[in-house]
Amino acid sequence: MTANDDLLSVLYTSTARSPFGDDELAELLTRSRASNERHELTGMLLYRGGRFVQVLEGPAERVRDLLAVIATDERHTAMRVLIEQPIERREFADWTMGYQPIAVTTAPAPAGFRDTFDDLEQSGDPSATLRAARELSLWFRVRERRAQSDAR
Ligand SMILES: Cc1cc2nc3c(=O)[nH]c(=O)nc-3n(C[C@H](O)[C@H](O)[C@H](O)COP(=O)(O)O)c2cc1C
Repeated sequence: MTANDDLLSVLYTSTARSPFGDDELAELLTRSRASNERHELTGMLLYRGGRFVQVLEGPAERVRDLLAVIATDERHTAMRVLIEQPIERREFADWTMGYQPIAVTTAPAPAGFRDTFDDLEQSGDPSATLRAARELSLWFRVRERRAQSDAR
């Protein structure tokens, strides 16, 4: 195991060059999960209405290396790092890349949950952005659980 004394968390937003279909997203996720697991990287990816929000966390150097690769990925553009901060513990320790496609037509999120990230970039306050990201991840964990129980 890598020492956990230099964990870094980065949150960025970006815009798909052209809308991602389910197959394209599935392929991106399959590859990312396998690679992230090998590199001890965790995080989450949200995609909605042509926009991505990704949190990546892990050993600082590996996070930075991957970000440099992702930044040159031609499938998206306008990448903006909104948060980059050292962390004590992983927020997404159990995920090599949690993902939930959020249908635009879906019913509004219940009170207390955020279901959009359109305003994230407008907020100049990193802690507000982090809070928003946490709310988002919580919301899609709930949805994931619901989808799993629906499938049963
Ligand atoms: C929005 C977005 C998020 C991505 N996230 C990851 C990721 O978490 N891990 C990863 O390995 N690649 C990720 N990629 C893919 C990388 O940009 C790059 O294509 C990949 O690392 C190259 O892997 P390969 O050399 O195995 O093809 C992402 C790409 C995009 C557009």
